[in-house]
Amino acid sequence: MKKLYCARVPSNIAFLKYWGKKNSQLQIPANNSLSMTLSNSYTETEASTIDGNQHELFYNKERLEVNAPFAQKVSTHLNTLSQHLKINSKLRIVTQNSFPSGCGIASSASGLGALTLSALSAWLDCRSIEDLEKKGFCLEKIASLARLGSGSACRSFFSGFTLWEKEGKVTELFNSKHWQLADTIVLISPETKLISSTEAHKLAWTSPLYSIRLAQIEEREKKIKTAISKKDLNQLGPLLEQEALEMHSIIMTSCPSVQYLNQASLDFLSWFIKERNSRSLPAYFTIDAGPNIHIISEKFFQKTLIASLKKKCSNYAIIPDHTGEGVKLWQKDTTN
Ligand code: PMV
Repeated sequence: MKKLYCARVPSNIAFLKYWGKKNSQLQIPANNSLSMTLSNSYTETEASTIDGNQHELFYNKERLEVNAPFAQKVSTHLNTLSQHLKINSKLRIVTQNSFPSGCGIASSASGLGALTLSALSAWLDCRSIEDLEKKGFCLEKIASLARLGSGSACRSFFSGFTLWEKEGKVTELFNSKHWQLADTIVLISPETKLISSTEAHKLAWTSPLYSIRLAQIEEREKKIKTAISKKDLNQLGPLLEQEALEMHSIIMTSCPSVQYLNQASLDFLSWFIKERNSRSLPAYFTIDAGPNIHIISEKFFQKTLIASLKKKCSNYAIIPDHTGEGVKLWQKDTTN
């Protein structure tokens, strides 16, 4: 009988974006960021200890070669974790996403989060979050370890709305019961982006707009927090849009320039803004580091919103998501 340690970690969508790092190696961000945890977009990862001198990785049921870029990212992170725990045994990692990866739905947040949680559980033989806590690994500590693999992963561990402060602290500001928002993701393109956000983060400092952003970001953070605490979408929405466009302006004006939005993203945004304004739809966009567009609305409005979107963009898949509850961990036995 073999023990499998299974973690489900959701993706998150940033309302206040993490863009640019103070220290790349330690993954120290240049600014605080704030996100909403998602529910339907998640990574599920099973970890089990194996004999041998190399980790084994299966992604979407296929074994990855050790030198594949994703396998290297996974094994670098596993090595960081095993050094931290002072445990040397190798793991078999079997992972899959409920959504397309590498295209602006934060698969690195859910992926590195699920990797961290399942690996720690396998190494420490913990079948629940409570077991991990008893061994000195509270959620905040696990989130900080996940951050070393992907910065935004640390925000995926909590329910509802999470703040990651630039000094390292990660806090659940409001849980998912406080406010149920919908994130309706318009899949403009499921293609994996050519330049990873890890690479593009490094260029942030080369944009002439970056210092302007950092100078006023604390003010925006206060406004976003107030809007969430008051559950005021009319106040939150314009801040989300400004934040997404500002991050993409910095990405585009970095040297060299990076383009995550494509013509179809821009066409969709023009249509959406016109439609929203002319029909006074209570819905606002945000964008991650990719061409896909996230539309934020109250959850009860999601069905009506999807019906409007389908009229315009029947050629794009739509992923309906909403405010989620955070991570899950369980253990199962198998004879395989
Ligand atoms: O965690 P990383 O290194 O993949 O950075 C991603 C940052 C954004 O997703 C673009 C913004 C954010 O705050 O999530």
